[in-house]
Amino acid sequence: MPHSSTSEPRACQSEFRFRCIGCGDVGDRAAQDFRCGRCQDLLEIMYPQWGKAAARSSATRADDLKSAWKQRRLSSSAIDLSGVWRFREILPALENAEQAITLREGNTPLYEMPQCARITGVPRLVAKHQGMNPTGSFKDTGMTVAASFARQAGFRWVACASTGNTSASMAAYAARGGLRSLVLVPEGKISWSKLSQALDYSSVTCQLRTDFDGCLRLLQELVLRAPVYQLNSINPFRLEGQKTLAFELLEQLDWQPPDHVIVPGGNLGNSSAIGKALLEMRELGLISRLPKLSVIQAEGANALVRTLREAGGKRLVSVEAETRATAIRIGNPASWKKAVHVLEATAGACEQVSEAEIAQAKAEIGAEGIGCEPASAVTLAGLKKLLKQGFVKPEESVVLVLTGNLLKDPDYTIEFHRDGLFQGTLHGSESAALKSLRHPPVVLDATLDAVIRTLEQADQPDSHG
Ligand code: F0G
Repeated sequence: MPHSSTSEPRACQSEFRFRCIGCGDVGDRAAQDFRCGRCQDLLEIMYPQWGKAAARSSATRADDLKSAWKQRRLSSSAIDLSGVWRFREILPALENAEQAITLREGNTPLYEMPQCARITGVPRLVAKHQGMNPTGSFKDTGMTVAASFARQAGFRWVACASTGNTSASMAAYAARGGLRSLVLVPEGKISWSKLSQALDYSSVTCQLRTDFDGCLRLLQELVLRAPVYQLNSINPFRLEGQKTLAFELLEQLDWQPPDHVIVPGGNLGNSSAIGKALLEMRELGLISRLPKLSVIQAEGANALVRTLREAGGKRLVSVEAETRATAIRIGNPASWKKAVHVLEATAGACEQVSEAEIAQAKAEIGAEGIGCEPASAVTLAGLKKLLKQGFVKPEESVVLVLTGNLLKDPDYTIEFHRDGLFQGTLHGSESAALKSLRHPPVVLDATLDAVIRTLEQADQPDSHG
């Protein structure tokens, strides 16, 4: 049954065009591979009406938007309950907004992290937990938009290459929207927990004998040969949805920008989306100052770090990726140019962290009672490095973007706590740092005495290890 939704501000229209990030060509349509017909670069979505609306007072426009978005939190219509479509003025317009495929994505919590703040030495640290989305990762915020446009365009099949989370999300939104879905994942290199989601949501799941980059290459060829709609973050509708993370974050912070936002980097769609959102918020007069957006990668999957250090951000330095943070095991990131642009525009940093640093940070986030998957923990590990380098000052405000839920990769967590993750490959100091964070399960006889003894031992100051 169609619902009527609340308050439509006159502030801005979401009529949109595609613009090539390379040659700047603007058009009404995108090819099936979402690449520029002239120069093959990626496309982004832009809103020509925004410039025209600038004639009106930007302050009034910003106030209209803020109050409309706030009011919609009281509405019970499906698109207002979505933490993505609630911000529809900054999204491409569907022909019928009520036709959005939504699982009530977005609306994710901003958590205080007092223990991690103490560990890093900053007075206050908060985490925006995108792992609290319906399928357990930030991908849902982009998928609701892109899957809705796939259905509107009349496609029967959608497809993606994935390190696991995109496929879980795509499978869910396709199923909800009555679409078939095809998943291409690297065999043996994604978490079973993520794969199980695609299976349950009835995708056709192909485990290919290659890495993520190989899966994505194949998908790009497939969409030019078969009537399949591609739902990777090359698809600019995905990035528009993922922008809402930043709008929702700023709303949660009463539109007071933090000094730093720190995000993991893999295929670099999410950092690009968050950066685009920050720049748009400033353009729309919603904020007057830009936070610095920093991207953190695993040392073994550090294409962006090397692209900036070795090529000044001018050409991609791709790598043979290897990391236990499998979500970001990507060596040839598709959105590298967009990411370089937002890093430069916001004056952010790009850093890499080791496997031991990731494991330690993940355990520290877990000990807050929050938890996240390994790829998300690079943010805390990266913050420690950025503080040491003086890029982040101790008195500055920092938001970490946690991208995936703890339950996304239980094998990693269990191996960590049972000391099976590194199998003796760590240096002494790395090993010592991790020891006190381990809480392995103990097998006991089912007696009261045994349990009480364990309780007493756990209460000793030096009980860990
Ligand atoms: N964190 C998690 C949990 C992810 O799943 C991903 C990417 C990232 C961070 C990196 O985001 O690619 O936009 O830079 N996962 C993709 C996938 C590639 O297929 O699920 P990015």
